[in-house]
Amino acid sequence: MTRISWERASPEGWQQAIKRMVRLHGVTVTPDEARKIVQYLSDEHGLAPDEAKSGIYYFEKRHLDQEKFPEAVREACVSCHPYAQAMNWRRAPEEWDLLVNMHIGYFPVVEWNSFRGQGQRGGGPPPPPGTDTRTPVEKAIEQMKKDFPLQTKEWAEWTASRRQAKLAGRWLISAYQPGKGQFTGEVSVEPGGAPNEWTTRATMTNVESGETLTRSGKGVLYTGYSWRGKSDSKDAADSKSAREVMLVSRDQNQMEGRWFWGAYDEFGYDVKLVRAEDRPVILTTSTQALRMGKTTSFKIIGDQFPAGLTVQDIDLGAGVTVKRIVNQSRTAIEVEVNVADKTTLGIRDLAVKRVVAPGAMAVYDTVDYLKTATDTALARLGGVAFPKGYAQFVVIAYNRGLDGKANTADDIKIGPVKAEWAMEEFQAVYGDDDTEFVGKLDKTGFFTPNVEGPNPKRKFSRNNYGDVWAVATYRGADAAPQKDGKPLTAKCYLIVTVPQYMKWDQPELAQ
Ligand code: HEC
Repeated sequence: MTRISWERASPEGWQQAIKRMVRLHGVTVTPDEARKIVQYLSDEHGLAPDEAKSGIYYFEKRHLDQEKFPEAVREACVSCHPYAQAMNWRRAPEEWDLLVNMHIGYFPVVEWNSFRGQGQRGGGPPPPPGTDTRTPVEKAIEQMKKDFPLQTKEWAEWTASRRQAKLAGRWLISAYQPGKGQFTGEVSVEPGGAPNEWTTRATMTNVESGETLTRSGKGVLYTGYSWRGKSDSKDAADSKSAREVMLVSRDQNQMEGRWFWGAYDEFGYDVKLVRAEDRPVILTTSTQALRMGKTTSFKIIGDQFPAGLTVQDIDLGAGVTVKRIVNQSRTAIEVEVNVADKTTLGIRDLAVKRVVAPGAMAVYDTVDYLKTATDTALARLGGVAFPKGYAQFVVIAYNRGLDGKANTADDIKIGPVKAEWAMEEFQAVYGDDDTEFVGKLDKTGFFTPNVEGPNPKRKFSRNNYGDVWAVATYRGADAAPQKDGKPLTAKCYLIVTVPQYMKWDQPELAQ
């Protein structure tokens, strides 16, 4: 029991520890007992909301181009798993030391491949006096003790002030799915079988296409703020079953996170829920940027908009004239606006009467460059014995901003644009012709990998793996292309690799 008392962790962390006890130490627990234990440990030995925020991407299964970690852990820790595996734990100093022993005990190879480091294997001349001769693992564990101690102000404050969450009620949702765009709608949350359980029903409409999807599910709340849920949809256009990871805000009026699915959790919605109240709110707009010298109509989407709004009630700042209200309802206002030829570039607040959405929209003149949503992507061959791991590419248009220079902090994000996608060879190996074998990238940026296994049609019967560029070309429908009139392009580095043959961790928290 003392091991438990000197450690704190996320629900996934505790689940992992329990599974190890079952797998290697002969513990028998029923699923129901295991659920109760995870709930208890996450509540009493969990992470505070502020401690959980920075590492939640790990449980949301987000694809990061590059995880951020201190240099001290590069060799000793992140050679095997993401840094997030470590940063979602808090431990007393002795427990961090015992973690080193645990790794050596379970994975003896760790000493050789990570903990002792390249320079520590003997044979060379002695290092000059004053050299830091600590091994990588010694440096890493010192960093852990400093950054992730057992007792923190955040945890003390959270355990003192937390209260039973009351999540039941009507919530408004705005969601974004790469490739599909924005969705808005409602989620009704109702009490479930236990005080920390709820059932949900979500209705979401695609802002661009108008297509409506419904999902029903259930969720469990850990540590008073950390939602783990599962929801299903009967709609052909939606995923059948998605997992939900969200953090509830301290005032219990917002939830934010990701709902995801796919064999490699590669599909998902970035979701934000706000509690529906008896006052108007702006959730989102159907376009995020307005072009100078143009008349555009777009939708403001929200809730409880009063009837009888006039053009004077909508404000987007200097240079933007609201010409007319095309349509209005309780949840959407369609407006037509004209942006002056010359006005200030940049971010604008959007106001509907006294409701203000700060920085909701941008005013720009030209699309100056494009960037893919991530710099890298990973797909996995599959379709025979293993599932395929897909990739959806998205390209985002930017304006150079007030300083007139592209790729600086003041650049304005215009938003995702529809571009044409194609693969290009990434020149790494002579004559491997990756683009012919790795899979198909359709015009909308959706990549379907080829099957796994050796391919007799390929040189040396290699399998279909490879690395390629996914290239987006934008010909600038409404936006002005570059001065020389050439289309804009952006590219993302795609690695198509073998299936993940073995998954050592299976998620069960929400079931
Ligand atoms: C040889 C690869 C490897 C290296 C290197 C490694 N880990 Fe791990 N680590 C693992 C694996 C595998 C697990 C999962 C163990 C299990 O549940 O069976 C794990 C689990 C953990 C856990 C969860 C602990 C628990 O009780 O379940 C933490 C925290 C952790 N590692 C931190 C670190 C830190 C900090 C370092 C660097 C000092 C490190 N790891 C280096 C492979 C590694």
